[in-house]
Amino acid sequence: MGQSSGDQRRIIVALDYADVETAEGLVARLDPSLCRLKVGNELFTRAGPAFIERLHARHFDVFLDLKYHDIPNTVAAACQAAADLGVWMVNVHALGGRRMLEAARTALDAHEHPPLLVAVTVLTSLESRDLGEIGFDTRPDRLASRLAVLAHDSGCDGVVCSAREAGAMRRAHGAEFRLVTPGIRPVGGRPDDQRRTLTPEEAVSAGADYLVMGRPITGASDPLNALQDTLGEVNSVSGM
Ligand code: C5P
Repeated sequence: MGQSSGDQRRIIVALDYADVETAEGLVARLDPSLCRLKVGNELFTRAGPAFIERLHARHFDVFLDLKYHDIPNTVAAACQAAADLGVWMVNVHALGGRRMLEAARTALDAHEHPPLLVAVTVLTSLESRDLGEIGFDTRPDRLASRLAVLAHDSGCDGVVCSAREAGAMRRAHGAEFRLVTPGIRPVGGRPDDQRRTLTPEEAVSAGADYLVMGRPITGASDPLNALQDTLGEVNSVSGM
């Protein structure tokens, strides 16, 4: 497993909120020594870099989940801007191709404190039929494996993938390749709109480094307690 030993912050809480006040209310109830935070397109578009700075002031590491996908020069500049913000992890679409991925890598390598660079392979919302419509005559899992090879070869630190793919990704790309997995539900948890969920224990056993979790924590009556319970499940596997 690529996750550095001694750091138990393997859960990334997804701040999927439309407004800053609700997001900050949740953040105030979490502990930066126990988790990291993910900020995506909706909240970032509303709240911007100032919100990221407030999370940093509270000592949280931030995964800036904006999935950059553009020409190499533009993506490199966006990655540079994310690094200037001091985020811990940033992501790009592997479908942007090798030159785009390498430009992102080069831009981050030039930075004093580069964030981890991870690639999205195939959005889980896309089925074979959708891929056919946009010109890919293949199955989503096959395309995801192929794009993970490209991401690895292009110098990405890891990929976002289903925990169900984590074992194969780990075998293919080695211990240092970071595997970031959403679609996690604690034992007995509600699936919400996720279809093929895994428990934290199953995900970590399969080789996941970081577990992205939203509603099981953000929707809990006591989010810190829900986080601690989940950490208990995670640590029972990793022996921490
Ligand atoms: O609430 P929940 O735990 O389902 O949230 C999962 C988070 O991970 C959301 O921010 C969602 O957008 C993200 N995600 C996902 N599946 C993917 C990629 C990202 O659920 N394949």
